[in-house]
Amino acid sequence: MASDPGHLWHGRLPTGPAEELMAFTASLPFDRHLWHDDITGSRAHVNGLERAGLLTSDEAEAVRRALDVVHGEFAAGSFVFVGSDEDIHTAIERRVTEIAGDAGAKLHTARSRNDQVATALRLWTRRNLLEVSDRILVLVDTLVASADDAGWGEGGIYLPGYTHLQRAQPVQLAHHLAAHAWSLLRDADRIHATIERANVSPLGAGALAGTSLPIDPAPTAREMGFRAAFANSLDAVSDRDFVAEALFDIALLGVHLSRIGEEWVLWTTEEFGFARLDDAFSTGSSMLPQKKNADVAELARGKSGRLIGNLTGLLTTLKGLPLAYNRDLQEDKEPLFDSVNQVVLALGALSGMIATAKFDRQRMQAAADDPLTSATDLAEWLVRKGVPFRRAHALVGALVQQCVSTGTPLADLVAASPDFGPQAAALLAPGVGVSMRTSPGGAGPGPSLGQREKLLAAVGVARREQEDLRAL
Ligand code: ARG
Repeated sequence: MASDPGHLWHGRLPTGPAEELMAFTASLPFDRHLWHDDITGSRAHVNGLERAGLLTSDEAEAVRRALDVVHGEFAAGSFVFVGSDEDIHTAIERRVTEIAGDAGAKLHTARSRNDQVATALRLWTRRNLLEVSDRILVLVDTLVASADDAGWGEGGIYLPGYTHLQRAQPVQLAHHLAAHAWSLLRDADRIHATIERANVSPLGAGALAGTSLPIDPAPTAREMGFRAAFANSLDAVSDRDFVAEALFDIALLGVHLSRIGEEWVLWTTEEFGFARLDDAFSTGSSMLPQKKNADVAELARGKSGRLIGNLTGLLTTLKGLPLAYNRDLQEDKEPLFDSVNQVVLALGALSGMIATAKFDRQRMQAAADDPLTSATDLAEWLVRKGVPFRRAHALVGALVQQCVSTGTPLADLVAASPDFGPQAAALLAPGVGVSMRTSPGGAGPGPSLGQREKLLAAVGVARREQEDLRAL
């Protein structure tokens, strides 16, 4: 076979690649998503080549114009790939050279696809993680709005809080919803920290060791909004910590969404009946005409397996790699794109589901008014009278035992007990239990209301972090 100039390495390997090799190694089917970021990196690189005197200003201008054309083609969906385009980077360079001729053929001076792909992927990650944190804050806002509807303070909806999924103590619904908001705010914070750490430019590291040509990575880094340029070329082209961190952040976020999902699956059952989903966020059955299912909640739970799998897959790929670039690293993209895509969809669907759902105050409160959920309050009533907690616990435990074995209402037993009496029995009246949770950060109306301000302040901090990162 004659030398095939359509391939990057046709000088060294004139025969050209086998079809099977291309089918197995090409990344174009998935890395085409990087087009925007590859062009951003190439623009910065051209400017750097011009500053270094490696391109004349006419040549640089010709390449910049070609990059604008290519950008326009991608934006319009009219970019045409050809068979030898192995990945998005070769496709864009090929097209720039078609448009700008010899000037275009200078674009890859002092650059390797190794620093090029690392640069594009960092830019992609920065931008898309911001989208994830944006969606997280929408879900947080949704939870705050639901909590506002439920009421944080006196008169707000309350429900049983559970441990081991057994009724434990009554809690304000707003407090319960806010618990999820706090974990989501940690997710947003983690993502922002990941973006900060990822925000270092690898451009100028070349294939692995830099170059003999007089380029300066610092101004190109600045131009792309990176905090700094790399310090070590080997690290720059082989580091995928930022992908692993992004996948971990999303996996943990996915675990949080899964726990929210599980709760809604339970809450919307006939058995719990704590909440009803809007029809638009419910699914029916192909066979059972009566069904109204919570598929959004179930998939929010189900997707977490895949998000954890994406993290584990990448870590496994990375663990045996010698410095510096290895083709294995190409396996970083699909899990990253998939995790970002899936979690953005999950966040949107869950936000919609929660925003449109209705809580059943009666069902929740009736379950929480089970007198047994106030057993601890009885023990604490004795503690206030000077009885050691361990003795108080045993006394109440014995009354509960009598109540469940004889069926006598706990309030009657308490009222008749020489250790307690009618004053203590009043603690078991409906709605009293939740009001007893008065300690700071606790689940009663007082501390719940106090928490609202702290929560909104934390949302404000997350939004400001986001604005700062968006300005890059
Ligand atoms: N498609 C490759 C990747 O995603 C780009 C870098 C290729 N570098 C190389 N030396 N073959 O990692």
